[in-house]
Amino acid sequence: MGGELRDKVAIITGASRGLGRAIAELFAAEGAAVVLVDLKPHWAEAAAEAIAATGATAIGYGADVSDRAALTAVIDDAAARLGRIDILVNNAMWNRYDLIADITPETFARMTGVGLGGIVWGIQAAAPHMPPGGAIINIGSMAGRLGSTGALLYAAVKAGVDGLTRSASVELGPRKIRVNAIAPSTVATEGVLAILNEDQIARRITQTPVGRLGEAVDIAQAALWLAGERSSFVTGQSIAVDGGIGHTLAR
Ligand SMILES: NC(=O)c1ccc[n+]([C@@H]2O[C@H](COP(=O)([O-])OP(=O)(O)OC[C@H]3O[C@@H](n4cnc5c(N)ncnc54)[C@H](O)[C@@H]3O)[C@@H](O)[C@H]2O)c1
Repeated sequence: MGGELRDKVAIITGASRGLGRAIAELFAAEGAAVVLVDLKPHWAEAAAEAIAATGATAIGYGADVSDRAALTAVIDDAAARLGRIDILVNNAMWNRYDLIADITPETFARMTGVGLGGIVWGIQAAAPHMPPGGAIINIGSMAGRLGSTGALLYAAVKAGVDGLTRSASVELGPRKIRVNAIAPSTVATEGVLAILNEDQIARRITQTPVGRLGEAVDIAQAALWLAGERSSFVTGQSIAVDGGIGHTLAR
């Protein structure tokens, strides 16, 4: 693999599986030291060990990203151990679909706490450690742009991700820190397979112009581009990585 992120330090939340894991693996393969954060320390540590076995520097931490103090402590500790933070990928999310009638104050608080709070606290804690040239990448969703049954709360959170990305890019731009989002369509991760049934997955494939679901590596490649120098004039954007489904009326 190449060295596109050589000497960079990257923190990825929700990194023990799914898209976060794929991003951590690709960034490590491109030369970054990677810091994996997940809910349980042993999940993050096991994923970090597997990446370290390839010869990369990888450290795992347990933290709930909705817990400001816990996430800040992890980010401060990682910055102290590795010297600085160049890249933050805010990926962790509690992926959950509920019909409108089933939404409770508890699910509202948890989804907004993880999906929006986790990003706010992550940016707040990481930005002071970031030198000029830093990159923040927030994982949004096409669900923030397109409606679907059961996605009211999830869509609100993900539309919020696009909004906070724009404002963070304006505020941090003068410090030469870029902030972008990625809006994936469906990728068959464990999190998604827990909320979509076979029929729903088959329908999404049919609706997608390129005729397949996304792969985790599709999202990781977009994150790599946004993390590196090749996108140095791109900030405040939410980039659809969706096989064209976001522009499709009928197929
Ligand atoms: N897979 C898709 O189709 C898809 C599509 C659009 C957007 N996304 C977004 O991509 C991101 C990753 O999704 P995924 O499909 O890989 O999900 P996943 O459920 O497979 O993985 C999510 C990871 O985040 C961790 N996590 C959850 N809550 C956390 C918290 N409070 N603190 C720390 N870690 C936490 C989980 O333990 C897990 O390791 C999410 O933001 C999701 O909304 C996914």
